[in-house]
Amino acid sequence: MSLSPESLRKSLERVQDPELGRSIVDAGMVGGITVTDGNVTVAIDSTTPASPHKDKIESDVRAALTAAGASNVGVKWGVRIPTRNILSDDPCPGVKNIVLVMSGKGGVGKSTVAANLAVALSRSGAKVGLLDADMYGPSVPTMFGVMGRPTSADGQKFLPLERFGIKLMSIGFLLEDAKSAVVWRGPMIQGALLQFLKDVDWGELDYLVLDLPPGTGDIILTISQKVRSTGAIVVTTPQEVALQDVYKSVSMAQKVGITILGVVENESYFICDGCTKRHELFGSGGGAKVAEMAEAPLLGQIPLEPGVREWGDAGTPVTQAAPNSAVAKAFIDLAGALAGRISVHNLQSVGSLRIDRSGGVNRHLPIMR
Ligand SMILES: Nc1ncnc2c1ncn2[C@@H]1O[C@H](COP(=O)(O)OP(=O)(O)O)[C@@H](O)[C@H]1O
Ligand code: SF4
Ligand SMILES: [Mg+2]
Repeated sequence: MSLSPESLRKSLERVQDPELGRSIVDAGMVGGITVTDGNVTVAIDSTTPASPHKDKIESDVRAALTAAGASNVGVKWGVRIPTRNILSDDPCPGVKNIVLVMSGKGGVGKSTVAANLAVALSRSGAKVGLLDADMYGPSVPTMFGVMGRPTSADGQKFLPLERFGIKLMSIGFLLEDAKSAVVWRGPMIQGALLQFLKDVDWGELDYLVLDLPPGTGDIILTISQKVRSTGAIVVTTPQEVALQDVYKSVSMAQKVGITILGVVENESYFICDGCTKRHELFGSGGGAKVAEMAEAPLLGQIPLEPGVREWGDAGTPVTQAAPNSAVAKAFIDLAGALAGRISVHNLQSVGSLRIDRSGGVNRHLPIMR
C-alpha cells in the first residue's frame, strides 16, 4: 500500500485531544509527516508541556497510523502554547500567559499555591516567572530562599532574580531589611505593580504567575484595567468560615471581567504516615461550592501536610524539595489541569476582547465617585 503524508494526515483526523475535545488535526497540533519505506514520522505540538494527555494521544496516533498501513511510527513532540490576548500596548508582550492567584481570604495558601504551581509548571519544561504582587506581605523571598537586589544591564529594565529556573520579582528584594514595612499609599502600590510588569525584563515566558494580596482591593481593580491576564485561580480552604470572603473575590473577579480559570481547595485533607485514613480536618465541600459559584472547575485539592510549611520556610517549595511526595504530586496534577484549562480557554477566546478597559464606566463596580 502506498502511504502519502496527506492520507496519513486524514487518518489522524479521528485522534482527539481529550483536553480540547477536538481532533488534533483541527486544533493545528499536527506538523510535518514524513514517510520512508513504510516508516512514518509525525511531528505533534502539545498545547502545554504540562499536558497529562501526551501518552494517550501518542498511543492513539500510533494506532491510527498503524491501521493506515505504517510499519513503524515515530512521534516527535514539540510544544506550542496558546497565548492570551496581547495587544501593542501590553506591559509584557513576551509573556504568553498571566495567571493570577487570588482569594478574598488571607492565610489560605495563595503564596504556597503560587510558588508550587510555578515550580510544577517549570519542572514540566515551561518557561515560568513568579511576581509577588503582595506588596505589604511579600512571601516570595522566604519561600524561594532568595535575597538580593535586582540589577539592570541596560539602565532601563530590572533583571529578575532566578531560582530553580524560575524568574522572580518581589518588593521584598528592594527593601533595606526584610522586617521593614512598606508604608505606601494605594496608588504607589499600584504603580509599583505595573512597573514590575513593565520594567522587569521577563523575556519570553510561557506562564507568569502573580501571587496577589488577600481581599478584593485596588490591586485587582488595577490589574483588571491595565493587564490582559489569562485569568485567575481562586484559592480556598474547605471550611464554611473561609467561604464568605472567597465568594467576594469571585464576585469581584466577575464584576471586573477577570476570567476564573478554576478553583483550588487547599488544606483539603490530612494523611499522616501512621496509616492511610484521610482526615478532613476543616470539613469538606468548600472548593466545590466556590467552583459552583464561579462556574469554573475545581482544578485540584491539596492536602494539609507539615512538609509544605517546613520546606516553604526553608526556602525550597515542597514540589522542588520532594517532587515524589503526595503533596507535590497534587501540585503537579494541579499544574497539568491548569495548563490544559489555559490552552482551551485561549483557543476559544483569543481574538475577542474580554476585558473592559473603560475603567469601570460600563460596569456596576463597587466604586463611590
Ligand atoms: N497544604 C498546606 N499544608 C501545610 N501548610 C500549609 C499548606 N498551605 C499553606 N500552608 C502554610 O500556611 C501558611 C499560610 O500560607 P500562605 O501561602 O502564606 O497563605 P496566603 O498567601 O494565602 O496568606 C504558611 O505557613 C504555609 O506554609
Ligand atoms: S488515624 Fe489518623 S492520626 Fe492516627 S495514624 Fe491514622 S492517619 Fe495518623
Ligand atoms: Mg501570601
